[in-house]
Amino acid sequence: MDIQAPKGTKDILPENIYKWQYVENLFRKLCSVYGCREIRTPMFEHTELFKRGVGETTDVVQKEMYTFEDKGGRSITLKPEGTAPAVRAFIENGLFNEVQPTKLYYFTPCFRYEKMQKGRFREHHQFGVEVCGSVEASIDAEVISLVMRVYKELGIEGVQLRINSMGCPSCRKKYNGALKEFLGNKYEELCETCKSRFEKNPLRILDCKVNSCKGIVSGAPIISDYICEECSTHFESLKNYLGVMDIHFDVDPLIVRGLDYYTKTVFEVLDKNGLALCGGGRYDNLIKQIGGPDVPAMGFGMGIERLLMALEENNIEIPSEKYMELYVGSMNEASKCEAIKIVNSLREKGIKCECDHMDKSVKAQMKYANKIEAYYTIILGEDEIKTRIAKIKRMSDRQQFEIKLDNLQEIINIVKA
Ligand code: HAM
Repeated sequence: MDIQAPKGTKDILPENIYKWQYVENLFRKLCSVYGCREIRTPMFEHTELFKRGVGETTDVVQKEMYTFEDKGGRSITLKPEGTAPAVRAFIENGLFNEVQPTKLYYFTPCFRYEKMQKGRFREHHQFGVEVCGSVEASIDAEVISLVMRVYKELGIEGVQLRINSMGCPSCRKKYNGALKEFLGNKYEELCETCKSRFEKNPLRILDCKVNSCKGIVSGAPIISDYICEECSTHFESLKNYLGVMDIHFDVDPLIVRGLDYYTKTVFEVLDKNGLALCGGGRYDNLIKQIGGPDVPAMGFGMGIERLLMALEENNIEIPSEKYMELYVGSMNEASKCEAIKIVNSLREKGIKCECDHMDKSVKAQMKYANKIEAYYTIILGEDEIKTRIAKIKRMSDRQQFEIKLDNLQEIINIVKA
C-alpha cells in the first residue's frame, strides 16, 4: 500500500490495546482514590493559547507545533501538551468558583513535530493531572505521590524521581541576568533560535537540542543559586512532605523543564536509561497569564508510550483480556439459526461467546475456537437440534458434558464454574 501512517505516529492494534486499557484503568482508579475528576478538552485550540501558555521562545512553540489556518482564517494548533487546554477550560467554565482545589485528570494525544528517536514520537499520549487552587507544597507532594504510585502499582523498578525549584519571577529575573552575563561573550556561537532567546528568555537556551548550544551552556550558572527565601522554604517543605510519605527523591539543580509556565517545584521521573517517563511542576502564574483569576496550580504529564516501553523492559506482563468463554459451532442453516439464538441469549447474560459467520467446516470452526481461546465449545448438528441435547466440551482437557439446549442456565453454570 502506498499510503502509510505519517512518520512519528503509530496504530494501536487490537492485539496491544489491552495494555493501554489496563494502564488507563489503573490511572482512573488511582485518580479517583486521589479525588481527581476527568476532563476532556478539544484536540485543537487557538494557537494563541500555546504561545501565551507554553511560551513563545520554547522549542515546542518555535519548532514543534502542528499549526494551520482553518477555513475561517483562524490559526489553529493541534495540542502539543495538556496543561494549557485544561487551564483554558478551568477558566472558561468558571471551575475556580467551585470548592478548591480543583483536581483534574486527562488522557490526551499530544502532537509535536520532533526529531524521531527511541521513545519520541510526533503523536504521543499523556496521562495528566492538574490541581488548581493551592499554593501549598503539600499538594505538590501529593501530586508527585500519585505519579510514583503508578510505577509502584505496575511494578516498574529503577525509576528515579528528580526534583528542583525554578523559583518565582523575581528569582528568575536575577537568574536571567546571571545567565546573560555568562552567555554574553558566547553569543555569536549560539544557534539562530537561541540568539533570539538571549534577550527574551535566556533560560530556554539551556534546553536547546542543537549540539553546539549544548556545549556552550555547560558550566552555566544554576537556578538553585538564585532562589529567594520564600521559594527556598517552599522547596524545603516539599522535601519534608515527600519524606513523610517515604518517597525517595534526588535534587537535580539542572532541571529547568522545556515549557515556560513553571514556578517553584519542577520534577521529572526517569527510567533506568535516563528517558523521561513523566514531567511536571507548579505553575502559579499560568492561569492569570491566560486571562483567568490569580489561582496557583500544579500538575504533571506522563507519557503512555514510554510507560508501556518501561513495562516491557521490566518484563512485566499485563493480563490479556483475549479469550472467549464459549464457541457455538454449527453444520447447516438450521443449526446456525440455533447457534445464533443461543449466542444472542448468552450475550444478554454477559457471556463472552461467538458463533460462525464464515460458513466454515466443523474442523475449521474448531481451529478457530482454539485461535480465539474459547474455554468451551458446543457444536450443533441435525441430531442436536432434533433432540435438543448437545455436548459442551472443555477445551483445556477435552472433557465433555451433556447439556439441554433449552436450559441456558445450565450452560452458564458450566461456563462460569
Ligand atoms: P513534557 O515533559 O513536555 O510536559 O511531557 C510530559 C511527558 O510526556 C514526558 O515526560 C514524556 O514521558 C512524554 N513525552 C513528551 N514528548 C514526547 C514525545 N515526543 N514522544 C513520546 N513521549 C513524549 C508536559 O507536556 C507538561 N504539560 C506536563 C505538566 C502538566 N506540567 C504541569 N502539568
